[in-house]
Amino acid sequence: MIQTDHDRYEKMSYRRVGHSGLRLSALSLGMWHNFGGVDPLENARAIIHRAFDLGITHFDLANNYGPPAGSAEENFGKILKQDLAGYRDELIISTKAGYHMWEGPYGEWGSRKHIIYSLDQSLKRLGLDYVDIFYSHRPDPDTPFEETALALDAVVKAGKALYVGLSNYSPEQTATMMHFFNELKTPCIIHQDPYNLYNRKIENGLLPVLREEKMGLIAFSPLAQGQLTDRYLNGIPQDSRAVKSGRFLDVEQVGKTIEKSRKLNAVALERHQTLAEMSLAWLLKDPLVASVIIGASKVSQVEDNVKALENSDFSNSELEKIENILKKE
Ligand SMILES: NC(=O)c1ccc[n+]([C@@H]2O[C@H](COP(=O)([O-])OP(=O)(O)OC[C@H]3O[C@@H](n4cnc5c(N)ncnc54)[C@H](OP(=O)(O)O)[C@@H]3O)[C@@H](O)[C@H]2O)c1
Repeated sequence: MIQTDHDRYEKMSYRRVGHSGLRLSALSLGMWHNFGGVDPLENARAIIHRAFDLGITHFDLANNYGPPAGSAEENFGKILKQDLAGYRDELIISTKAGYHMWEGPYGEWGSRKHIIYSLDQSLKRLGLDYVDIFYSHRPDPDTPFEETALALDAVVKAGKALYVGLSNYSPEQTATMMHFFNELKTPCIIHQDPYNLYNRKIENGLLPVLREEKMGLIAFSPLAQGQLTDRYLNGIPQDSRAVKSGRFLDVEQVGKTIEKSRKLNAVALERHQTLAEMSLAWLLKDPLVASVIIGASKVSQVEDNVKALENSDFSNSELEKIENILKKE
């Protein structure tokens, strides 16, 4: 078992998820990239150790994270067993089902068959009896929402998940699902969506629904996959996601935002912060945001990101400057 810093809970803040009793670390660590079978396990281990040591209690996974799909859960399961087993009750571990995981008609989407067996497979890979939060990763246009809701309710009743959540559901789809959950008294407390300075889509549609339904938001890709950091300010590093992955973020996309990122970076420097710190602090100013799920390829990135909490207040003039930069074409 690892030796960790006994002060770790003093360094972090813990924020309530909607109107539930659950509190999440303001920063969570996600394992979409850099924790798969193709990535060095020792680097993944070092990032997870450091995150836990800095007070991050929430680790976010999905059945398909890797590559190959499933390997991020396997790697996290190994690290948990070898180093963190004694800390299980201090951790919030989430996973998801819905994207393509195995061949044939049951390997993805929102049927009862996929949802329930996918979680069973995830629990095996993780070496756990239960996860803390289990998500429907995306809405299924061909399965009745009531069936997906009942399947999520069933995993809670079976003790395989403590809470459930929705990811990538529209405001209307969320309201429909919450109608079923409210009837069933299923603890669906959290919504996981993309939210960052460059992607504000949820502000007008989803956030009012979450307020109404008393759910919390957990923001994914809070740094726009690295575009809201200093990663690309002076060129394109060969070990960056834009070069290595190229699928979800590519060099062309980075080129589209770089000028704004440079201007935002100037505002961050005036605040004595890095661009990453300022971008996370900006999200956390809304109490509806229970946590932001960062990704990281290096321990130093987690260390930098946690410093966002040291300066999370914004003056009106800083907010105006940021809005003006974002408005410009
Ligand atoms: N529910 C969903 O559909 C969904 C979808 C996407 C993501 N997610 C969740 O959200 C998590 C985070 O997503 P994300 O990885 O896109 O988040 P992100 O935090 O926006 O981007 C992470 C990347 O930004 C760079 N970075 C992070 N901190 C940095 C720093 N301080 N300085 C310089 N560069 C820094 C690193 O890029 P380099 O790798 O180039 O170093 C890192 O891999 C995922 O792991 C997953 O758990 C969920």
